[in-house]
Amino acid sequence: MHQPAQEIGRRQVKPQEWNSPGAALAGPGEFVFRRECVYSFATVPMADAKAKIASDPIPMLDLRAQYATLREEIRAALDEVLEAQQFILGPQGKALEDELSRFCGARFAVGVASGTDALILALHAAGVRPGDEVIVPAFTYVATADAVSLLGAKPVFADILPGTFNIDPQQIEKHVTPRTKATVPVHLFGQAADMDPVLALAARRGLHVIEDNAQAIGANYRGRTTGTMGETGTLSFFPTKNLGGYGDGGMILTNSPDLERRLRSLRFHGTGANRYISDEQGWNSRLDELQAAVLRVKLRHLQKWNAARQEHAARYNALLKNVPGLTTPSVAASCEHVFHQYTMRISGGGAARRDAVQKKLAARGIASTVYYPIPLHLQPMFAALGHKAGDFPHAERAATEVLSLPIYPELLPAQIERVAEALAAALREESGG
Ligand SMILES: Cc1ncc(COP(=O)(O)O)c(C=O)c1O
Repeated sequence: MHQPAQEIGRRQVKPQEWNSPGAALAGPGEFVFRRECVYSFATVPMADAKAKIASDPIPMLDLRAQYATLREEIRAALDEVLEAQQFILGPQGKALEDELSRFCGARFAVGVASGTDALILALHAAGVRPGDEVIVPAFTYVATADAVSLLGAKPVFADILPGTFNIDPQQIEKHVTPRTKATVPVHLFGQAADMDPVLALAARRGLHVIEDNAQAIGANYRGRTTGTMGETGTLSFFPTKNLGGYGDGGMILTNSPDLERRLRSLRFHGTGANRYISDEQGWNSRLDELQAAVLRVKLRHLQKWNAARQEHAARYNALLKNVPGLTTPSVAASCEHVFHQYTMRISGGGAARRDAVQKKLAARGIASTVYYPIPLHLQPMFAALGHKAGDFPHAERAATEVLSLPIYPELLPAQIERVAEALAAALREESGG
Protein backbone atom coordinates (compact mmCIF):
# COMPACT_ATOMS: atom_id res chain seq x y z
CA MET A 1 0.00 0.00 0.00
CA HIS A 2 1.33 3.39 -0.93
CA GLN A 3 2.04 5.64 2.01
CA PRO A 4 2.41 9.38 1.62
CA ALA A 5 6.06 10.36 1.95
CA GLN A 6 6.69 12.09 5.19
CA GLU A 7 10.00 13.76 5.62
CA ILE A 8 11.73 13.86 8.97
CA GLY A 9 15.34 14.59 8.15
CA ARG A 10 17.87 15.08 5.40
CA ARG A 11 21.56 14.48 5.15
CA GLN A 12 24.17 14.57 2.39
CA VAL A 13 24.88 10.85 2.23
CA LYS A 14 24.66 8.02 -0.26
CA PRO A 15 21.58 5.82 0.17
CA GLN A 16 23.56 2.58 0.09
CA GLU A 17 25.35 3.77 3.21
CA TRP A 18 22.22 3.40 5.25
CA ASN A 19 20.38 0.23 6.17
CA SER A 20 16.93 1.70 5.91
CA PRO A 21 14.38 0.12 3.59
CA GLY A 22 12.22 3.22 4.03
CA ALA A 23 14.86 5.60 2.76
CA ALA A 24 14.90 7.09 -0.70
CA LEU A 25 17.08 9.36 -2.74
CA ALA A 26 15.39 12.75 -2.88
CA GLY A 27 17.65 14.84 -5.04
CA PRO A 28 21.28 15.22 -5.98
CA GLY A 29 23.14 13.47 -3.17
CA GLU A 30 20.35 14.07 -0.70
CA PHE A 31 18.80 11.39 1.37
CA VAL A 32 15.36 11.73 2.90
CA PHE A 33 13.99 9.40 5.49
CA ARG A 34 10.46 8.29 4.60
CA ARG A 35 8.01 6.09 6.45
CA GLU A 36 10.85 4.42 8.33
CA CYS A 37 13.82 6.19 9.73
CA VAL A 38 17.39 5.23 10.54
CA TYR A 39 17.26 6.47 14.08
CA SER A 40 20.17 5.78 16.35
CA PHE A 41 21.26 2.19 15.69
CA ALA A 42 17.88 0.77 14.72
CA THR A 43 15.50 1.20 11.82
CA VAL A 44 12.16 2.17 13.32
CA PRO A 45 8.76 3.05 11.90
CA MET A 46 8.27 6.71 11.12
CA ALA A 47 5.69 7.43 13.81
CA ASP A 48 7.92 5.90 16.49
CA ALA A 49 10.97 7.72 15.18
CA LYS A 50 9.32 11.12 15.53
CA ALA A 51 8.28 10.38 19.09
CA LYS A 52 11.72 9.02 19.95
CA ILE A 53 13.50 12.04 18.52
CA ALA A 54 11.31 14.26 20.64
CA SER A 55 11.92 12.38 23.88
CA ASP A 56 14.98 10.08 23.78
CA PRO A 57 18.16 11.29 25.46
CA ILE A 58 20.61 12.94 23.06
CA PRO A 59 24.13 11.72 23.81
CA MET A 60 27.43 13.55 23.08
CA LEU A 61 28.28 10.87 20.56
CA ASP A 62 26.38 7.87 19.15
CA LEU A 63 28.94 5.37 17.89
CA ARG A 64 26.27 2.67 17.65
CA ALA A 65 24.41 4.79 15.11
CA GLN A 66 27.62 5.10 13.14
CA TYR A 67 28.31 1.37 13.35
CA ALA A 68 24.83 0.65 11.98
CA THR A 69 25.89 2.39 8.77
CA LEU A 70 29.24 0.55 8.55
CA ARG A 71 28.54 -2.93 9.89
CA GLU A 72 29.12 -4.87 6.66
CA GLU A 73 32.24 -2.94 5.66
CA ILE A 74 33.80 -3.20 9.12
CA ARG A 75 33.11 -6.90 9.49
CA ALA A 76 34.58 -7.64 6.05
CA ALA A 77 37.70 -5.61 6.90
CA LEU A 78 38.17 -7.34 10.24
CA ASP A 79 37.65 -10.73 8.59
CA GLU A 80 40.45 -9.97 6.16
CA VAL A 81 42.86 -9.42 9.06
CA LEU A 82 41.63 -12.49 10.91
CA GLU A 83 42.15 -14.64 7.81
CA ALA A 84 45.64 -13.18 7.27
CA GLN A 85 46.58 -13.64 10.95
CA GLN A 86 49.15 -10.85 10.76
CA PHE A 87 48.48 -8.40 13.56
CA ILE A 88 51.44 -6.02 13.82
CA LEU A 89 53.07 -4.04 10.98
CA GLY A 90 51.30 -5.65 8.05
CA PRO A 91 49.51 -4.56 4.87
CA GLN A 92 46.60 -2.79 6.60
CA GLY A 93 48.87 -0.47 8.57
CA LYS A 94 50.95 0.28 5.48
CA ALA A 95 47.86 0.98 3.37
CA LEU A 96 46.40 3.24 6.07
CA GLU A 97 49.67 5.19 6.26
CA ASP A 98 49.58 5.70 2.48
CA GLU A 99 45.89 6.65 2.44
CA LEU A 100 46.19 9.04 5.35
CA SER A 101 49.31 10.74 4.06
CA ARG A 102 47.39 11.34 0.81
CA PHE A 103 44.27 12.53 2.67
CA CYS A 104 46.27 15.01 4.75
CA GLY A 105 48.70 16.02 2.01
CA ALA A 106 51.86 14.93 3.86
CA ARG A 107 54.67 12.92 2.23
CA PHE A 108 54.80 10.35 5.02
CA ALA A 109 52.67 8.93 7.81
CA VAL A 110 53.89 6.62 10.57
CA GLY A 111 51.34 4.66 12.62
CA VAL A 112 51.83 4.43 16.39
CA ALA A 113 49.89 3.16 19.38
CA SER A 114 48.14 6.40 20.44
CA GLY A 115 47.99 10.15 19.94
CA THR A 116 50.03 10.59 23.13
CA ASP A 117 52.74 8.27 21.80
CA ALA A 118 52.69 10.19 18.52
CA LEU A 119 53.54 13.36 20.48
CA ILE A 120 56.23 11.62 22.57
CA LEU A 121 57.97 10.13 19.52
CA ALA A 122 57.69 13.35 17.49
CA LEU A 123 59.11 15.42 20.37
CA HIS A 124 61.92 12.93 20.93
CA ALA A 125 62.73 12.90 17.21
CA ALA A 126 62.90 16.71 17.34
CA GLY A 127 65.66 16.33 19.94
CA VAL A 128 63.65 17.18 23.07
CA ARG A 129 65.59 15.87 26.07
CA PRO A 130 65.46 16.21 29.88
CA GLY A 131 65.83 19.84 30.94
CA ASP A 132 64.60 21.29 27.64
CA GLU A 133 61.56 23.55 27.53
CA VAL A 134 58.59 23.08 25.19
CA ILE A 135 55.91 25.75 24.85
CA VAL A 136 52.33 24.43 24.83
CA PRO A 137 48.92 26.08 25.23
CA ALA A 138 47.57 26.43 28.78
CA PHE A 139 44.15 25.29 27.51
CA THR A 140 44.15 21.87 25.84
CA TYR A 141 43.78 18.20 26.70
CA VAL A 142 46.40 17.22 29.27
CA ALA A 143 48.14 14.76 26.91
CA THR A 144 49.83 17.61 25.04
CA ALA A 145 51.84 18.65 28.10
CA ASP A 146 52.07 15.16 29.58
CA ALA A 147 54.00 14.03 26.49
CA VAL A 148 56.55 16.79 27.17
CA SER A 149 57.02 15.95 30.84
CA LEU A 150 57.19 12.19 30.13
CA LEU A 151 60.40 12.96 28.21
CA GLY A 152 61.80 14.79 31.25
CA ALA A 153 61.35 18.15 29.57
CA LYS A 154 59.45 21.11 31.02
CA PRO A 155 56.09 22.15 29.58
CA VAL A 156 56.01 25.95 29.46
CA PHE A 157 52.48 27.26 29.14
CA ALA A 158 51.29 30.08 26.91
CA ASP A 159 47.88 31.73 27.03
CA ILE A 160 45.26 31.34 24.30
CA LEU A 161 43.36 33.62 21.95
CA PRO A 162 39.84 33.94 23.40
CA GLY A 163 38.13 33.74 19.99
CA THR A 164 39.48 30.36 18.82
CA PHE A 165 40.71 28.87 22.14
CA ASN A 166 44.04 28.23 20.38
CA ILE A 167 47.54 29.25 21.47
CA ASP A 168 48.37 32.96 21.06
CA PRO A 169 51.56 33.22 18.94
CA GLN A 170 52.58 36.43 20.72
CA GLN A 171 52.43 34.61 24.03
CA ILE A 172 54.72 31.88 22.68
CA GLU A 173 57.31 34.56 21.92
CA LYS A 174 57.11 35.89 25.48
CA HIS A 175 58.05 32.52 26.91
CA VAL A 176 61.03 31.63 24.68
CA THR A 177 64.28 31.15 26.63
CA PRO A 178 67.68 29.72 25.64
CA ARG A 179 66.36 26.31 26.79
CA THR A 180 63.27 26.35 24.54
CA LYS A 181 63.55 23.50 22.07
CA ALA A 182 60.10 23.31 20.53
CA THR A 183 56.51 24.44 20.57
CA VAL A 184 53.36 22.33 20.20
CA PRO A 185 50.44 24.35 18.82
CA VAL A 186 47.20 22.40 19.26
CA HIS A 187 44.38 22.64 16.70
CA LEU A 188 41.75 22.56 19.40
CA PHE A 189 38.15 21.41 18.86
CA GLY A 190 38.79 21.01 15.10
CA GLN A 191 40.14 24.43 14.20
CA ALA A 192 43.71 25.31 13.21
CA ALA A 193 45.92 27.40 15.48
CA ASP A 194 47.21 30.58 13.84
CA MET A 195 50.19 28.85 12.23
CA ASP A 196 51.81 31.56 10.08
CA PRO A 197 53.09 33.62 13.04
CA VAL A 198 53.98 30.41 14.91
CA LEU A 199 56.07 29.16 11.98
CA ALA A 200 57.70 32.58 11.47
CA LEU A 201 58.61 32.81 15.15
CA ALA A 202 59.93 29.23 15.17
CA ALA A 203 62.14 29.95 12.14
CA ARG A 204 63.45 33.15 13.79
CA ARG A 205 64.18 31.52 17.15
CA GLY A 206 65.25 28.08 15.91
CA LEU A 207 62.34 26.12 17.45
CA HIS A 208 60.93 22.82 16.28
CA VAL A 209 57.18 22.86 15.60
CA ILE A 210 55.09 19.76 16.32
CA GLU A 211 51.40 20.22 15.52
CA ASP A 212 49.02 18.43 17.87
CA ASN A 213 46.35 17.59 15.32
CA ALA A 214 44.52 15.02 17.46
CA GLN A 215 41.23 16.92 17.16
CA ALA A 216 41.41 18.42 13.68
CA ILE A 217 42.00 15.77 11.02
CA GLY A 218 40.99 17.27 7.66
CA ALA A 219 40.92 20.89 8.87
CA ASN A 220 42.46 23.59 6.77
CA TYR A 221 44.54 26.71 7.45
CA ARG A 222 44.95 29.16 4.56
CA GLY A 223 45.02 26.35 1.99
CA ARG A 224 47.18 23.98 4.04
CA THR A 225 45.94 20.90 5.86
CA THR A 226 46.51 20.82 9.61
CA GLY A 227 49.28 18.48 10.65
CA THR A 228 51.44 19.22 7.60
CA MET A 229 52.78 22.69 8.41
CA GLY A 230 55.22 21.90 11.22
CA GLU A 231 58.08 19.43 10.94
CA THR A 232 55.69 16.80 12.29
CA GLY A 233 51.96 16.64 12.97
CA THR A 234 50.30 14.10 15.22
CA LEU A 235 46.92 12.35 15.01
CA SER A 236 44.87 10.44 17.58
CA PHE A 237 42.43 7.70 16.69
CA PHE A 238 40.83 7.57 20.14
CA PRO A 239 37.30 6.26 19.46
CA THR A 240 35.60 9.64 19.99
CA LYS A 241 37.77 11.48 17.45
CA ASN A 242 36.48 12.50 13.99
CA LEU A 243 38.42 9.46 12.72
CA GLY A 244 38.15 7.10 15.67
CA GLY A 245 39.29 3.49 15.90
CA TYR A 246 37.97 0.65 18.01
CA GLY A 247 40.69 1.20 20.61
CA ASP A 248 43.78 3.37 20.91
CA GLY A 249 45.84 4.45 17.92
CA GLY A 250 47.78 7.38 16.53
CA MET A 251 49.90 8.59 13.64
CA ILE A 252 52.68 11.04 12.88
CA LEU A 253 52.71 13.05 9.64
CA THR A 254 55.91 14.50 8.21
CA ASN A 255 57.38 15.66 4.92
CA SER A 256 60.93 14.73 5.95
CA PRO A 257 62.31 11.34 4.80
CA ASP A 258 64.88 11.47 7.62
CA LEU A 259 62.21 11.97 10.27
CA GLU A 260 60.08 9.25 8.73
CA ARG A 261 62.97 6.75 8.97
CA ARG A 262 63.75 7.83 12.51
CA LEU A 263 60.12 7.57 13.67
CA ARG A 264 59.78 4.08 12.18
CA SER A 265 62.84 3.08 14.16
CA LEU A 266 61.71 4.78 17.40
CA ARG A 267 58.35 2.97 17.37
CA PHE A 268 60.18 -0.38 17.25
CA HIS A 269 62.87 -0.26 19.97
CA GLY A 270 65.25 1.80 17.86
CA THR A 271 65.67 -0.90 15.22
CA GLY A 272 66.09 -0.56 11.45
CA ALA A 273 65.79 -3.16 8.70
CA ASN A 274 67.23 -5.74 11.08
CA ARG A 275 64.75 -6.02 13.96
CA TYR A 276 67.41 -7.52 16.23
CA ILE A 277 69.89 -4.65 16.03
CA SER A 278 68.85 -1.60 18.07
CA ASP A 279 70.71 1.58 17.22
CA GLU A 280 69.18 3.60 20.03
CA GLN A 281 66.65 3.41 22.82
CA GLY A 282 63.11 3.40 21.45
CA TRP A 283 59.56 2.40 22.26
CA ASN A 284 57.13 -0.37 21.47
CA SER A 285 54.45 1.79 19.87
CA ARG A 286 52.77 0.40 16.79
CA LEU A 287 49.33 0.69 15.30
CA ASP A 288 47.94 -2.84 15.02
CA GLU A 289 46.35 -4.36 11.94
CA LEU A 290 42.82 -4.66 13.37
CA GLN A 291 42.77 -0.94 14.19
CA ALA A 292 44.24 -0.05 10.82
CA ALA A 293 41.57 -2.11 9.03
CA VAL A 294 38.78 -0.33 10.94
CA LEU A 295 40.35 3.07 10.31
CA ARG A 296 40.69 2.40 6.57
CA VAL A 297 36.94 1.76 6.36
CA LYS A 298 36.17 4.87 8.37
CA LEU A 299 38.59 7.05 6.40
CA ARG A 300 36.43 6.45 3.31
CA HIS A 301 33.60 8.27 5.14
CA LEU A 302 35.59 10.98 6.88
CA GLN A 303 35.04 13.78 4.40
CA LYS A 304 31.29 13.21 4.47
CA TRP A 305 31.30 13.07 8.28
CA ASN A 306 33.32 16.28 8.59
CA ALA A 307 30.88 17.94 6.17
CA ALA A 308 27.95 16.76 8.32
CA ARG A 309 29.62 18.23 11.42
CA GLN A 310 30.01 21.55 9.57
CA GLU A 311 26.38 21.46 8.51
CA HIS A 312 25.30 20.80 12.10
CA ALA A 313 27.47 23.69 13.34
CA ALA A 314 25.85 26.03 10.80
CA ARG A 315 22.43 24.89 12.00
CA TYR A 316 23.34 25.47 15.65
CA ASN A 317 24.81 28.90 14.77
CA ALA A 318 21.60 29.94 13.03
CA LEU A 319 19.38 28.67 15.84
CA LEU A 320 21.49 30.14 18.64
CA LYS A 321 22.60 33.43 17.15
CA ASN A 322 20.07 35.58 18.98
CA VAL A 323 20.11 33.71 22.26
CA PRO A 324 21.40 36.11 24.93
CA GLY A 325 24.24 34.98 27.20
CA LEU A 326 26.00 32.62 24.86
CA THR A 327 28.72 32.95 22.24
CA THR A 328 28.74 30.47 19.37
CA PRO A 329 32.14 29.22 18.07
CA SER A 330 34.04 31.62 15.86
CA VAL A 331 35.88 30.41 12.78
CA ALA A 332 39.03 32.34 11.86
CA ALA A 333 39.24 33.80 8.33
CA SER A 334 40.57 31.42 5.66
CA CYS A 335 40.23 28.41 7.96
CA GLU A 336 38.07 25.34 7.65
CA HIS A 337 36.88 24.06 11.03
CA VAL A 338 35.98 20.35 11.26
CA PHE A 339 34.04 20.69 14.53
CA HIS A 340 35.42 17.84 16.55
CA GLN A 341 33.54 19.80 19.19
CA TYR A 342 30.93 22.53 18.97
CA THR A 343 32.16 24.60 21.90
CA MET A 344 30.27 27.70 23.00
CA ARG A 345 30.80 30.11 25.83
CA ILE A 346 28.13 30.72 28.46
CA SER A 347 29.17 34.01 29.99
CA GLY A 348 27.99 36.36 32.68
CA GLY A 349 28.13 34.10 35.73
CA GLY A 350 31.36 32.11 35.69
CA ALA A 351 31.44 28.35 36.08
CA ALA A 352 28.37 28.36 38.35
CA ARG A 353 26.13 29.70 35.59
CA ARG A 354 27.62 27.41 32.95
CA ASP A 355 27.25 24.39 35.23
CA ALA A 356 23.64 25.30 36.04
CA VAL A 357 22.83 25.49 32.33
CA GLN A 358 24.48 22.12 31.81
CA LYS A 359 22.33 20.59 34.58
CA LYS A 360 19.18 22.01 33.00
CA LEU A 361 20.14 20.47 29.65
CA ALA A 362 20.75 17.13 31.37
CA ALA A 363 17.29 17.35 32.97
CA ARG A 364 15.89 17.59 29.42
CA GLY A 365 17.86 14.51 28.36
CA ILE A 366 20.57 16.42 26.51
CA ALA A 367 24.24 15.64 27.05
CA SER A 368 26.90 18.34 27.03
CA THR A 369 30.52 18.33 28.19
CA VAL A 370 32.98 20.82 29.63
CA TYR A 371 36.18 20.54 27.60
CA TYR A 372 38.17 21.51 29.73
CA PRO A 373 37.30 22.44 33.30
CA ILE A 374 40.89 23.00 34.54
CA PRO A 375 43.57 24.78 32.52
CA LEU A 376 46.86 22.90 32.43
CA HIS A 377 48.85 25.27 34.67
CA LEU A 378 46.36 24.59 37.49
CA GLN A 379 46.32 20.79 37.04
CA PRO A 380 47.61 18.93 40.12
CA MET A 381 49.98 17.07 37.78
CA PHE A 382 51.87 20.31 37.14
CA ALA A 383 51.73 21.77 40.66
CA ALA A 384 55.53 21.57 40.92
CA LEU A 385 55.80 24.19 38.17
CA GLY A 386 54.49 26.70 40.73
CA HIS A 387 51.71 28.38 38.76
CA LYS A 388 48.76 30.14 40.36
CA ALA A 389 45.33 31.38 39.37
CA GLY A 390 45.67 34.54 37.31
CA ASP A 391 48.78 33.42 35.38
CA PHE A 392 46.86 32.70 32.14
CA PRO A 393 43.61 34.66 32.29
CA HIS A 394 42.20 33.69 28.89
CA ALA A 395 42.71 29.97 29.56
CA GLU A 396 41.19 30.32 33.02
CA ARG A 397 38.18 32.21 31.73
CA ALA A 398 37.61 29.65 28.97
CA ALA A 399 37.64 26.86 31.58
CA THR A 400 34.76 28.56 33.43
CA GLU A 401 32.67 29.39 30.34
CA VAL A 402 32.98 26.60 27.77
CA LEU A 403 30.30 24.06 27.06
CA SER A 404 30.33 21.62 24.15
CA LEU A 405 27.11 20.34 22.55
CA PRO A 406 26.50 17.05 20.68
CA ILE A 407 27.74 17.39 17.08
CA TYR A 408 28.27 13.84 15.83
CA PRO A 409 27.55 13.30 12.11
CA GLU A 410 24.49 11.09 12.63
CA LEU A 411 22.54 13.76 14.53
CA LEU A 412 19.27 14.67 12.86
CA PRO A 413 18.17 18.27 12.25
CA ALA A 414 15.20 17.70 14.57
CA GLN A 415 17.59 16.70 17.37
CA ILE A 416 19.70 19.82 16.82
CA GLU A 417 16.54 21.92 17.03
CA ARG A 418 15.66 20.20 20.29
CA VAL A 419 19.11 20.91 21.74
CA ALA A 420 18.94 24.57 20.70
CA GLU A 421 15.44 25.03 22.13
CA ALA A 422 16.45 23.38 25.41
CA LEU A 423 19.55 25.58 25.63
CA ALA A 424 17.60 28.76 25.02
CA ALA A 425 15.05 27.72 27.66
CA ALA A 426 17.80 26.84 30.17
CA LEU A 427 19.45 30.23 29.67
CA ARG A 428 16.11 32.03 30.04
CA GLU A 429 15.47 30.19 33.29
CA GLU A 430 18.98 31.01 34.56
CA SER A 431 18.36 34.67 33.84
CA GLY A 432 15.13 34.50 35.82
CA GLY A 433 13.06 34.83 32.65
C1 LIG B 1 44.56 17.64 21.88
C2 LIG B 1 44.90 16.21 22.16
N1 LIG B 1 46.18 15.84 22.20
C3 LIG B 1 46.54 14.57 22.42
C4 LIG B 1 45.60 13.59 22.63
C5 LIG B 1 46.06 12.21 22.96
O1 LIG B 1 45.58 11.23 22.12
P1 LIG B 1 45.37 9.72 22.64
O2 LIG B 1 44.21 9.71 23.56
O3 LIG B 1 45.15 8.96 21.38
O4 LIG B 1 46.64 9.32 23.33
C6 LIG B 1 44.23 13.92 22.57
C7 LIG B 1 43.14 12.95 22.71
O5 LIG B 1 42.84 12.24 23.53
C8 LIG B 1 43.88 15.27 22.36
O6 LIG B 1 42.59 15.64 22.33
